[in-house]
Amino acid sequence: MNVYDGFRIAAMLEHHGFMRTDDVSDADIIILNTCAVRAKATDKVFSALGRIRRAKKTSALFGIVGCVARESGADAFRRIPDLNFVLGPQSYHKLPDILENPDARLLNIDLGGLEKFDALPQMQTSPRVAYIPIQEGCNHVCTYCIVPYTRGPEISRSFESVMAETIHAAKTGAIEICFLGQNVNGYKYTDKNGKTYRLSDLIRETAKIPEIMRIRFTSSYPTEMTDDLIDMFRTEPKLLPFLNMPIQSGSQSVLTRMNRPYSLKLYCDIIHKLKSARPDIQISSDFIVGFPGESDDDFEQTMKIAKQIKYINSYSFKYSPRPHTAAALMPDQIPENTKAARLAQLDTCLNEIQREFNESCINKTFACLLEGPDKTGRHLVYRTPFMQQCIVPACDNAPAMAQITITAANKASLRGKITD
Ligand code: 5AD
Ligand code: SF4
Repeated sequence: MNVYDGFRIAAMLEHHGFMRTDDVSDADIIILNTCAVRAKATDKVFSALGRIRRAKKTSALFGIVGCVARESGADAFRRIPDLNFVLGPQSYHKLPDILENPDARLLNIDLGGLEKFDALPQMQTSPRVAYIPIQEGCNHVCTYCIVPYTRGPEISRSFESVMAETIHAAKTGAIEICFLGQNVNGYKYTDKNGKTYRLSDLIRETAKIPEIMRIRFTSSYPTEMTDDLIDMFRTEPKLLPFLNMPIQSGSQSVLTRMNRPYSLKLYCDIIHKLKSARPDIQISSDFIVGFPGESDDDFEQTMKIAKQIKYINSYSFKYSPRPHTAAALMPDQIPENTKAARLAQLDTCLNEIQREFNESCINKTFACLLEGPDKTGRHLVYRTPFMQQCIVPACDNAPAMAQITITAANKASLRGKITD
């Protein structure tokens, strides 16, 4: 979501005549787009702000946007007095106000809902992978999560505006569409004639666009994986066989205290249905270890489910107490060293599963999408349908989509050769 917001902010500034620079000391405007999901991310924002204010030109406008802006509000001005603006994740389209009135401080952390989408200029060119937000906010209120506070209640964009942005992206360079939302599969929009559209409708319509070769979406809430959506994996070959569907914990009692009231059986049944629809589908998850009250036995159940489902490409985090959340006030907070030991154990297991899956890809051929050159310029990085990085030797006129046969694998990436 932040990558998308960053693109829109850059496009908006280009529209106002700004150009990009890599040199902070040369910039006329500096914006930090921020994430508040864990305390570490928030802390990094304030240390980066300290560094930037020492390096920047005195006249440069300087501010933060996104979830840390929303969480800190006016307090950010107290911590960093020379900040010019603090704009929340749904009000960054107000940025031009500071260009018109650079001497005033601009604070706007309103939950403007979908207003920003209409207020932003269209992008001139689109990246090969276009992120298209289809909903904002979240109604699930998991007890550890700050998102319902920073991004507000769930609200879906209209079917027409999502499709207009998708078609525009396809006409200006996109090959892959990634639909985005904190609760992406909760997408639900009813038009004025009473017709309701779901994520499956967006996928079906997008698959008809000739320029679009690949479709995916993130992040999904397990119980909103409805049958119409599961069926898309059977009927739409452009939908990638890869799904991020976070389980967070393998312990039923931890899930209940996280306010994620699905049963583990239901979760496994959904995976079973997905595999019947698309036998090669692979699942990734997010995990939180060290949630308040998590016992050794609870943690063992998380290890067990990770091995059972064989998640590839997962994200795992130590629980981080956040303001405005119920879990921060729960008893039995877990000591830092226990959290760290559990995270290390889970990561070892997840890496091993990922390495096994990567090795199982050797000698197989996949349709891959070009991401760009690697840092050395001697290789190209492609993405497989399972979002693995695949490295091939650089060549002239490399195709954006290529059939690649995998020749080697380790836990982090694949190597391959273009076969057509
Ligand atoms: N502590 C640790 N991880 C968190 N996440 C969300 N809130 C917290 C928190 N307070 C993780 C969840 C979510 C991902 C985006 O971030 O795993 O799926
Ligand atoms: Fe946060 Fe995701 Fe839970 Fe929503 S479903 S409250 S975004 S963790």
